[in-house]
Amino acid sequence: MLARLLFSSLLIASQIRAQHITFLQTQNDTWNSTFELTSQQLVNVNFSDTQATNLEIAVNFERSNWALGSATQDDFYKAPANTSSLPAGSVIKVQYFVNTTSFALPPNTALSRLSYTTKNLLNDTIPASAYILWPYLPLTYPNLSSPRPGTNSSKFPVVAWAHGSSGVFAECGPSNLRNLESQYSAPYELALSGYVVIGPDYQGLGTNQSFDGSEIAHPYLVGSAAADDLFYAVQAAQSAFAARLSKEFVIMGHSQGGSAAWASAIRQHNTPVDGYLGSIAASPSTNLSGLITALGQALPPLLPMLGTQAIKALQPNFNISRLLTAEGQSRYQLAKDISMCNSAAGELLADFPTSDRGALLHPNWTTVPEVADFFGATAGPGTLPISGPLLVLQGTSDLVVPYQFTDAAVAQTCAINNGRGVHYAKFAGVTHVPVLYASRRIWLDFLTNRFSTVGNVTTSRTCVTVNHTSLPFPVENYQRELGHRLELNTQSYQQGRLGF
Ligand SMILES: *[C@@H]1O[C@H](CO)[C@@H](O)[C@H](O)[C@H]1NC(C)=O
Ligand SMILES: *[C@@H]1O[C@H](CO)[C@@H](O)[C@H](O)[C@H]1NC(C)=O
Ligand SMILES: *[C@@H]1O[C@H](CO)[C@@H](O)[C@H](O)[C@H]1NC(C)=O
Ligand SMILES: *[C@@H]1O[C@H](CO)[C@@H](O)[C@H](O)[C@H]1NC(C)=O
Ligand SMILES: *[C@@H]1O[C@H](CO)[C@@H](O)[C@H](O)[C@H]1NC(C)=O
Ligand SMILES: *[C@@H]1O[C@H](CO)[C@@H](O)[C@H](O)[C@H]1NC(C)=O
Ligand SMILES: *[C@@H]1O[C@H](CO)[C@@H](O)[C@H](O)[C@H]1NC(C)=O
Ligand SMILES: *[C@@H]1O[C@H](CO)[C@@H](O)[C@H](O)[C@H]1NC(C)=O
Ligand SMILES: *[C@@H]1O[C@H](CO)[C@@H](O)[C@H](O)[C@H]1NC(C)=O
Ligand SMILES: *[C@@H]1O[C@H](CO)[C@@H](O)[C@H](O)[C@H]1NC(C)=O
Ligand SMILES: *[C@@H]1O[C@H](CO)[C@@H](O)[C@H](O)[C@H]1NC(C)=O
Ligand SMILES: *[C@@H]1O[C@H](CO)[C@@H](O)[C@H](O)[C@H]1NC(C)=O
Repeated sequence: MLARLLFSSLLIASQIRAQHITFLQTQNDTWNSTFELTSQQLVNVNFSDTQATNLEIAVNFERSNWALGSATQDDFYKAPANTSSLPAGSVIKVQYFVNTTSFALPPNTALSRLSYTTKNLLNDTIPASAYILWPYLPLTYPNLSSPRPGTNSSKFPVVAWAHGSSGVFAECGPSNLRNLESQYSAPYELALSGYVVIGPDYQGLGTNQSFDGSEIAHPYLVGSAAADDLFYAVQAAQSAFAARLSKEFVIMGHSQGGSAAWASAIRQHNTPVDGYLGSIAASPSTNLSGLITALGQALPPLLPMLGTQAIKALQPNFNISRLLTAEGQSRYQLAKDISMCNSAAGELLADFPTSDRGALLHPNWTTVPEVADFFGATAGPGTLPISGPLLVLQGTSDLVVPYQFTDAAVAQTCAINNGRGVHYAKFAGVTHVPVLYASRRIWLDFLTNRFSTVGNVTTSRTCVTVNHTSLPFPVENYQRELGHRLELNTQSYQQGRLGF
């Protein structure tokens, strides 16, 4: 009966539509951007026509993923000068409602954006940006409290999400990307599971200019700076949405964000924040200098380019010619001028063989003192005590963060933490980003445990390592990588492929 009713209403709908026939269009393969390099830019990098075309395609791909146009043209990302005296963790601007039509979000999630104050590595207060992804049916846990005592809050449970490496320039902030950069790997799953997701862009991404107009350089891979962004974004969101959010929160991150989540557990050890319940660090970057030594000549050229911007965050007057060759400098400058993120920057450096880093870096680059300072600033995760619990997730086939580095960081942390606080889960045959998909059940259980035991104080648990090796099928039978991406449907016929 119901089926027949539905069928007849579909028939009626198609008859009505038949009266308004329009020509269908094939969805663009040029995406939603028509960027072209200027002749001066081409001269500066001395690119062949093929190289130029390839780079333009990658830049146009990247720009087609902007949800609301260029971040550098969007007033949301600019902080008014009169907010410069606000302490870190303050709200600058709130967009309670963001029209999500141009984002590729799961249905029945909602989006807000927030700008707030954080601290840079020089201890200055600076502006930064973040998104908040809201669930349709938030989870309720009985013992959560309101961020503002005396307020009757709905106490929706909060997870701060620390995204993986997206790039180092303004346009690389997830709050302006259609899929929020990390999509179903975590933030979408978190919201669909009932958590409110607070996703900071990290300082220098999204918002890249300070109150006085000066540049905010992104301190790539410096976990302590990202940890500040995470804690201050949570604090600001809790003050902007005091009637909705819980005071309690968990921090979760992947790769660059895995080191940020780990650094958050260290920050919590040194500067406890009420409401912190623990962290989840997936494929965490630790021991950068050790990794670079191990990579030797196989150092991917993108890494020094991203690292150069991080050195600028530590030493704003750093002269990049001390590190980069003339060719390296002109590439870096172009990446910065047009704000390339990882897709375009990868294409920009595609002709540099990984076996010859001399194309980009002076041979003596490891002796530059600022490089040592940068490595020093990234150290922390794996060498300092933490406030547990910390759930660490690692695939054994990860080529970006080899599991041996995570093994060592976990072992050392447990040794200096009296053998307590870390739950280490390893996944046989799993790679870098996919570890979040393989381990989804485990991190959701961790969150349930953290939020449902609030008020029931238990001592930090003994360190444990669990190897997940026993699968229903041979590991080769499983989809290995994320081989798809999210695109908007722009044409009517595409809706028909989604099922009624
Ligand atoms: C294709 O992209 C261009 C911009 O590059 C836009 O003007 C045009 O409307 C798009 N066409 C369709 C069918 O989406
Ligand atoms: C530009 O590239 C061409 C071909 O790769 C090369 O022959 C030429 O020397 C380069 N010019 C400069 C100024 O680097
Ligand atoms: C293309 O981007 C512009 C902003 O840059 C936006 O207004 C427009 O809706 C986008 N179109 C599509 C089909 O994504
Ligand atoms: C800054 O100025 C705007 C008006 O220009 C005002 O609405 C806002 O409250 C001021 N913010 C602070 C922190 O003083
Ligand atoms: C969101 O934007 C779309 C496209 O511009 C528009 O059709 C829709 O009405 C907007 N939604 C709301 C709630 O404003
Ligand atoms: C950082 O700034 C705060 C004030 O904003 C000050 O209390 C603190 O001592 C400073 N820390 C360092 C290391 O300079
Ligand atoms: C909060 O709500 C409870 C019942 O839902 C009520 O008894 C209490 O007075 C409220 N407190 C405030 C501060 O509004
Ligand atoms: C912010 O980024 C844009 C795009 O890369 C750049 O043009 C602009 O100069 C940057 N702002 C500052 C203050 O450096
Ligand atoms: C490294 O070499 C470059 C170019 O040869 C030179 O300008 C720079 O001073 C050297 N740096 C150090 C730390 O030796
Ligand atoms: C909630 O907190 C109270 C103390 O504040 C405690 O007695 C109770 O066991 C807690 N409930 C749970 C489920 O942990
Ligand atoms: C508190 O934790 C203990 C130990 O994990 C458990 O046995 C007990 O049931 C918990 N109490 C509540 C109220 O959840
Ligand atoms: C997990 O596997 C590693 C080898 O990858 C092994 O050294 C370690 O003992 C195993 N740990 C446990 C708890 O089974």
